[in-house]
Amino acid sequence: MTIKDFNFAGKKAIVRVDFNVPLDENGQVTDDTRIRGALPTLKKILDDGGAVIMMSHMGKPKGKVNPKLSLSQIVKPVGEALGVEVKFAPDCANASAEADALKPGEALLLENLRFYPEEEGKPVGVEKGTPEYDEAKKVMKVSQKEFARKLASYADVYVMDAFGTAHRKHASTAVIDEFFSKDCRMLGFLMEKEVQAVDNILSNIRRPFTAIMGGSKVSTKIGIIENLLGKVDNLILCGGMTFTFAKAMGGKVGNSLCEDEQLDLALSIMDQAKKKGVNLVLGSDCVAGDAFDNKCKTVVCPANDVPDGYMGLDAGPESQKQFADAISGAKTILWNGPAGVFEFNNFAKGSRAIAKAIAKATKNGAYSLIGGGDSVACINKFGMSEQVSYISTGGGALLEAIEGKTLPGVAAVLGE
Ligand code: 3PG
Ligand code: MG
Repeated sequence: MTIKDFNFAGKKAIVRVDFNVPLDENGQVTDDTRIRGALPTLKKILDDGGAVIMMSHMGKPKGKVNPKLSLSQIVKPVGEALGVEVKFAPDCANASAEADALKPGEALLLENLRFYPEEEGKPVGVEKGTPEYDEAKKVMKVSQKEFARKLASYADVYVMDAFGTAHRKHASTAVIDEFFSKDCRMLGFLMEKEVQAVDNILSNIRRPFTAIMGGSKVSTKIGIIENLLGKVDNLILCGGMTFTFAKAMGGKVGNSLCEDEQLDLALSIMDQAKKKGVNLVLGSDCVAGDAFDNKCKTVVCPANDVPDGYMGLDAGPESQKQFADAISGAKTILWNGPAGVFEFNNFAKGSRAIAKAIAKATKNGAYSLIGGGDSVACINKFGMSEQVSYISTGGGALLEAIEGKTLPGVAAVLGE
């Protein structure tokens, strides 16, 4: 079933959204991209005369109630975005009364799904790799199904619209589907749009293709980096990763972030790039600070010669130029991960240079896709979201999709 063709009149729809949005210390949403992303689906259901039950996780409470990760904090902003009052069910697995009471045009938000370990389906408090774990896992699989059955019981229809979580095989993304017939489960508009955006990158590559990968760790991005090496013409690796590469090549990185266990991996990436004829861009200089603080003392130095007591916190002016050169002229662009600690205004220049270059290339006809919470927050912070082709609500999910993996959340809805 497709959402466009479904008439929700008189139906209750349970929608898996990804409202795992960043909050500040006062519980205020600092970036509402994911809330706005879900609106087309939610509004369609309400406009048809249906009632909507939203469910999501927030953070990683690991199966325990944690008030800091309560979705009650976003009831108001979600209601404002949606234009209807949003009711709240404080226990996602005991919300039959609230669900039953819903009338057409009304909206209900369930409390954080991950307050129950059943959502992720991982046993808690038992060590992995032990016989007890395997036993606990079996028990958990059964209770996970019960948990999913309970969620399903609230509604007539299931809509999967949590692209950001579609790479997780969890109760609300890949178990609940079993309780709905194919006619009563579907992807939401956001999912459809995101899948299309990935397709634009994968099957419709216009060259040159430049990918920019930033962020702190090589280890968590290795899958996508190796995959991209087979697809791109230019690969910019920036952010904290820079220093793992610098050290691997014999450089001095001071107190910079560095994954000492990944030095060989860094060398192997460089080697693969060379063999595949990919232009690998590693920024040559950086802005280093004497503390992890916006107002610390700074120096501009080579990325492979960071003074003792300093850590690289942003890309330097030369690097910014190298990045811009590899982006200008590109016809397909993918950006995931900032080039520096952009949350600190004094260390946002590297990321800003990337954003500007992407905006310019997009103006000249490139298709640009930005994904990952940090890069999206970055583009929004610079007020440049209108100047790129597509902003994805996915981080890990986007990267897995681009690696060509089938997302469990998609497979569950579209499968038998
Ligand atoms: C995300 O922010 O990447 C998604 O909401 C998924 O969250 P997770 O990485 O905690 O599963
Ligand atoms: Mg994640």
